[in-house]
Amino acid sequence: MELLRAVSARGSLRLPRSLVCQSCRSQAVTVTSRPRQLRALRPASRLFATTTTTSSEPTTTPSEPTTTSSEPTTTPSEPSKPPKPYYITTPIFYVNAAPHIGHMHSMVLADVLKRWQVLNGKTAFLCTGTDEHGMKVQQAAAAKGVPPKQLCDENAAAFEDLARLANIDYDRFIRTTDPDHIDAVKHFWFLLQEKGLIYESLREGWYSVSDECFYPESTVEKRMDPFTGEVFWASSETGSKVEWIEEKNYHFRMTALKDSLRQFYAKNPEWILPARGMNQVIDWVNKNLEDLSISRPADRLHWGIRVPGDDSQTVYVWVDALINYITKAGFPTWTPGREHEGGWPANVHVVGKDILRFHGVYWPALLMAVDLPLPQKIISHAHWTMGQRKMSKSSGNGVSPFLAIDRWGVDTMRFYLMHDGGLANDADYSNHSIATRYRKMLQGGLGGLASRAMRCRLWDLRKIISSTGTGPPLTRQNPQREAVLRHEETLRALAPSVAQSMSVPDVKVALKTIMQVVDDTHKLMTDTAPWDGMKHDDGSIERAAAEETIFIVAETLRIVGILLLPFMPGKAKELLDGLRVQKWRRDFRFAKPRTDFAYASSWRPMAPPLEKLFPPQAVED
Ligand code: MSP
Repeated sequence: MELLRAVSARGSLRLPRSLVCQSCRSQAVTVTSRPRQLRALRPASRLFATTTTTSSEPTTTPSEPTTTSSEPTTTPSEPSKPPKPYYITTPIFYVNAAPHIGHMHSMVLADVLKRWQVLNGKTAFLCTGTDEHGMKVQQAAAAKGVPPKQLCDENAAAFEDLARLANIDYDRFIRTTDPDHIDAVKHFWFLLQEKGLIYESLREGWYSVSDECFYPESTVEKRMDPFTGEVFWASSETGSKVEWIEEKNYHFRMTALKDSLRQFYAKNPEWILPARGMNQVIDWVNKNLEDLSISRPADRLHWGIRVPGDDSQTVYVWVDALINYITKAGFPTWTPGREHEGGWPANVHVVGKDILRFHGVYWPALLMAVDLPLPQKIISHAHWTMGQRKMSKSSGNGVSPFLAIDRWGVDTMRFYLMHDGGLANDADYSNHSIATRYRKMLQGGLGGLASRAMRCRLWDLRKIISSTGTGPPLTRQNPQREAVLRHEETLRALAPSVAQSMSVPDVKVALKTIMQVVDDTHKLMTDTAPWDGMKHDDGSIERAAAEETIFIVAETLRIVGILLLPFMPGKAKELLDGLRVQKWRRDFRFAKPRTDFAYASSWRPMAPPLEKLFPPQAVED
């Protein structure tokens, strides 16, 4: 009690050595115990969006960052707190099976969100990794006749390979077998215990190894396997087989947090995206919340972290797994007063809808229990299906992301997953759709526009950008010029509109908004036919209108290239390289017309790199 009073008075607590868990004793541990308010999500993109929607033209273009080593002129004062980095996570993946497209989807979505922040000048961290303990992995290893750690090493390597291949810009690939994570879990357990929120009792109930959780009696039903005729008990929610278990284990008094959870949801109705997910979580808490079993007897589950102080029990795999998010952020050895520097609280947890309850209920309850701030947003995406059945290892219908990347290319796959994948609704995976998107939107759409603007020998892009681009603003003198003017307005509104979608975040709408402008630009070219105007004399209105069209088309390519960097980092870079856009001019500040007149230097029509931007696919179906 004395201790708790000290906590509320000072906000942070230096624990007596005897109360610090063994794994952390070697380090000076301070636990921040002050409850913190959840900060409203206010990504930088919003700020940029506000500044970019002003109607007045900027008088200066953004300048090149300078790296001077000059001394500060002001007298040193207390060092100001560095801002919290934007922190985004993917779920950590079970290593009992090889990765499939659904896993790649979670990774890419998180990566797009991270890269978007970087494009906006923010420091951002992305954490991904593998969930290696638990019954599922233990059984998979036993079935293969290999030690669990060996299975983990092999499959964790496959997930990390996927992260690299999918061009995921991750800052840490965490494994729950990592020593710092094991320390974090033990310390977290210690805090829960210290708060008096752990008790021992008999647990009877339906457990699903596949989902690694107990299901309430009211949510299980009898099912029959249509192929074998076997009748079994299953979760009505996921269809996974459940088995009746009776055992003594430790429980987390989650029901003590029921009111706090409900108040939190009421105050933060947009905490989970989409709204349907938020409602499901609230409904579940209202109807089903019970204390959570947080350990399993070690004689049944040996593959996991032993409960501190009780070797006969193993920590429940979901408690172990969720803590990975704070391990990466430096818990529990983060510096007092500077905990935020590691990124916590996370700005966004990306999760699939099947694991929403763990993130929307258990995780906030656990964090509240130890007075840690809650993540700011949870995005729960829908599933990829094959023939309308959820893609999964157990259904045997998982598509290998390695084969898909090999066949279609990494950027095409990233594009397809973000363009067709759903937040609220499942999407059916099909090679035919990938081929169609590729042919129409990438090869014909973006690639076609690049070659229309850049391959024509009738004009010199560099000259047009330096003369037309810097000349007086367009006036409404003829229909072509009016069309160009309208297009420039569309282009000016593009980045703010994409920023608005990304602040939701709704990456699908953001991507579609970008690609719509590509279509509009094709239409502009066809309607204004600049190749005709370019045949007129210098100084003629036709010639001027044609040059203005070409200028705005080049601007579209440049801006679209910048905005596509988070989605297709490789192809967007190729496009910008082909346009000779300088590296430092490839961020959000330059994603509006007339902010860069330096590109297309040393221009040659048919610049070789762009030839290969979106080559024909050998086989389409
Ligand atoms: N290990 C847990 C997560 C712990 S996070 C603290 C887990 N792992 S998983 O490997 O089964 O799933 C990882 C992610 O992949 C989840 O977000 C899940 O929703 C996602 N997907 C698995 N199958 C999927 C599809 N068919 N489609 C889209 N994503 C799906 O759960």
